[in-house]
Order: sequence, then C-alpha cells, then structure tokens
Amino acid sequence: MILIITGTPGTGKSTVAGLFCKKHGIKLIEVNKFAHEAAAGYDVERDSVEVDVEKLFEKIKNLASGDVVIEGHLAHLLPFSNATVVVLRTSPEVLRKRLKKKGFAERKIQENLEAEALDVCLIESLEVHSEVYEVDTSELTPEEVVERIDKIVAGDGEEFKPGKIDWSEKFFSP
Ligand SMILES: Nc1ncnc2c1ncn2[C@@H]1O[C@H](COP(=O)(O)OP(=O)(O)OP(=O)(O)O)[C@@H](O)[C@H]1O
Ligand SMILES: [Mg+2]
Repeated sequence: MILIITGTPGTGKSTVAGLFCKKHGIKLIEVNKFAHEAAAGYDVERDSVEVDVEKLFEKIKNLASGDVVIEGHLAHLLPFSNATVVVLRTSPEVLRKRLKKKGFAERKIQENLEAEALDVCLIESLEVHSEVYEVDTSELTPEEVVERIDKIVAGDGEEFKPGKIDWSEKFFSP
C-alpha cells in the first residue's frame, strides 16, 4: 500500500501521518526532507524553494517499497500508480489559528488560506491520481483523523470522496 497524505500547510499532515505510522508500524517518508535535494530554483517573490517534481520522484520512488506513507504538501504530485491519496482539509478560521501558532507570517497565512479555499491540493491530486479522498480536520482531533484514514484504507471511504468540502463562500464573500 502506498498512502499519500497531502494538504495545505497546517492541515496536519505531519501530525496525522506520524500517528498513523506509529499506530500501524509502517514506514513514513517525509517529502519535505527531499525537497532541497530536488530544488530547481528559489522563488524570491514567494520566499519558497521551487521543486523539480521529476527529480523528487526519482529520489523517493525506490524508497517506497511495501506499506508506506508519503507525507507532505507536494506528496500528491509524485506519480505513483495505485496510490491512495488523502487530502487533509481545514476551514479558513481554524487554519488561520494553526498557521499563526506555527509562526507563519501574515502574508504566508493569507497565501495558504487562499490555496485551501481554492482546493489547490485536491485539484492537483485529482490530476495525478484516481483514488483520492478528503478529510475535514477542522473539528477533529489528530487521532480521529487517523480513524477516518483507517476507514478509507479499509475500502470503506465512500463518504470521503471529493466534492463535499467548499470553503470558498466562507473565504471569498465580503
Ligand atoms: N485534527 C487535527 N489533525 C491534525 N492536526 C491537528 C488537528 N487538530 C489540531 N491540529 C494541530 O495542527 C497542527 C498541524 O501541524 P502539522 O505540522 O502537523 O501540519 P502540516 O500539514 O504537516 O504542515 P506543514 O505543511 O507546514 O508541514 C499541529 O499543531 C496539530 O497538533
Ligand atoms: Mg508537515
């Protein structure tokens, strides 16, 4: 099994993936750890590293043997076939609080809230993968999110099929 856990920064990927792997005793690959090795440049305007996804995939694909969780906000871009993708989602007001707590600057908070409201990770995931699910973490504990993912992995994830989460009205209405 290849389980990809993705989502906007602050949605809880690292927390949830860590818990999931501990619970089931399976391997965790943190994509961020490879991002610098696969850097294609530096986006000064956005203050972020641009990553060459092909290079990133080359570095990671051979590590993904057996049951593995691949976690990170770029993880869904890796073209593994037969991966199950879980996109973690968080409402704008909760995400703002989490990002503030993580020490993100206001501009970065705004940028990430916008990406979340525009479903960027979900849409990109659907472009690369067919088994895609989304879990709203806003009102849940990390342990409860892990339980939802257990259900998805067990093949009982119908209720987590994409299309039910929409923050756009909350975020974009005046
Ligand atoms: N239901 C939840 N699921 C996951 N994290 C939660 C939840 N509720 C609260 N949190 C908190 O939100 C924070 C999420 O941070 P975390 O580093 O896991 O996010 P991330 O998605 O990995 O971010 P980044 O992309 O910056 O690495 C943690 O402090 C975690 O305790
Ligand atoms: Mg993380």
